Amino acid sequence: MSLIPIYSDFSFSSNQNDCRKRFNEINQLFESRFESKPSFYTRAPGRVNFIGDHIDCNHFSSLPMAIQADMTAAVSIRTDQLIKISNLDSKFEDSSFEIPQNGQFTIDKTIFSWTNYVKCGFLVASNFLKENSPNSAITLNGLNVLFHGTVPSGGGLSSSASICVCSALLFLRANGMSKITKKDLTKISVVSEHYLGVNTGGLDQCASIYGEDSKALLVHYKPDIHGETFSFPNIKPSPMKILISNTLVEANKFETAPVNYNLRVVEFAVASEILAVRTGFDLPKDSNLKTATLKGFLDTYLEKKLGWAHWDGHNVSHALKYFAKGLELIEQLFDENEKKNGFTTEEAAKALNISTDEFASRFLASFPVRYEKLKLYKRSKHVYFESLNVFKVIELLTSNNTTNDFKFMENLGSIINDSQQTSITGIENSTPEIEIVCEIALKNGSYGSRVTGAGWGGCVIHITTEDKIEKLYTALSEEYYKKRFPGISENELKDALIITQPSSGALLIEL
Ligand code: GLA
Repeated sequence: MSLIPIYSDFSFSSNQNDCRKRFNEINQLFESRFESKPSFYTRAPGRVNFIGDHIDCNHFSSLPMAIQADMTAAVSIRTDQLIKISNLDSKFEDSSFEIPQNGQFTIDKTIFSWTNYVKCGFLVASNFLKENSPNSAITLNGLNVLFHGTVPSGGGLSSSASICVCSALLFLRANGMSKITKKDLTKISVVSEHYLGVNTGGLDQCASIYGEDSKALLVHYKPDIHGETFSFPNIKPSPMKILISNTLVEANKFETAPVNYNLRVVEFAVASEILAVRTGFDLPKDSNLKTATLKGFLDTYLEKKLGWAHWDGHNVSHALKYFAKGLELIEQLFDENEKKNGFTTEEAAKALNISTDEFASRFLASFPVRYEKLKLYKRSKHVYFESLNVFKVIELLTSNNTTNDFKFMENLGSIINDSQQTSITGIENSTPEIEIVCEIALKNGSYGSRVTGAGWGGCVIHITTEDKIEKLYTALSEEYYKKRFPGISENELKDALIITQPSSGALLIEL
């Protein structure tokens, strides 16, 4: 069972000098704010998703990696029942609150505040402590916590997951747990943002926790959520490089969830249930909305009709056939009008043989959503197509016939570019800025460029090789950033264009 690692130095960091400087700054402010020294620290990184977005809520695997940017917290234990939180960045206001009875932190979903993310982490951790305590009443420690985050907010790099995971981890440690399994921390933190009304899957938290140096992660959701590491090959003569460019169009998942994020999850759920009705199969109700999923549909259909085994997340050649079948079925089971125009609530309820009231209580009651039409065909097609893309990448990474490294990069790039196309047409989370950035990049040395994470703004991931990185960097600086943001400073540019490599996941530091 793998445990959250505990470090007594900065060897987890690829730049130990910068890390030491950062911790000195954190310590200084901590001592002046709380008149005590931190007794331990927790860190949880952001992630960049290499490929496979908006499929996790259907239990299909994505291929993310943890990045160096993270949320770090310094913590000391108080003798009273107060929790005081502060942030090194003064734009995040200080906050102080009493530990609620039995750890049931209340979260005001109507406002957007950074403190809410901290409370979400504390809440899932205190629920876990309660479940694991021999007597149901638990005594929780008061805390001083100073946070410092380097993941850009609203950039699609999981700034919200990094703060929730970092908070859950510090809360467990501060209340007596030091042997924390990655599995438990993932299981509890995947639901943390649900308390804010955002129906997230598990991709972000799993990547933040299971991340490893130089490795990408295939995230599995069934039978339980965990990450499996994958390495990228050594590309010769010029090594592969990953560049992230932030379009600087902020995507606030919390504020836009009803028309973007939460709505997609409802569309997947309604599509799965309609496919069940149309094929006459009973499906497991294992989505976040307690409905069927597109995985449940495809598993059941292929088992009953063709005797295929359920998709186990591992066998690559099975994956390629399995998702291709999903795509075929979607073509057959939605008619031309539905494909073109989508479904109104009335049409969807009719397809399910239920009233609109029952429809609302089954699909619309748990998380806020707003829409006119539900685009069920487009979204389902996206899920099977994008899941197929993930396994095309895994096939490339695991096949040993990469004798021609240039060809490898071209093949990888072409899958990444296909993934960007389904963002535009299938899940509709791309933006004009993202498309401009992709276009500039592909003309200037990127083999493949796609929006990463939730989208609707945020970051693009590009793959290239070392010999082309300078040209790519310069083209994006000149043709996107300097044109669109004329006064942009060199530092802002440096923050927006990041050459990254997979980094280690969540950890505890006890110096
Ligand atoms: C957000 C969610 C994740 C995942 C991605 C898209 O980051 O939190 O669960 O759905 O979007 O892949």
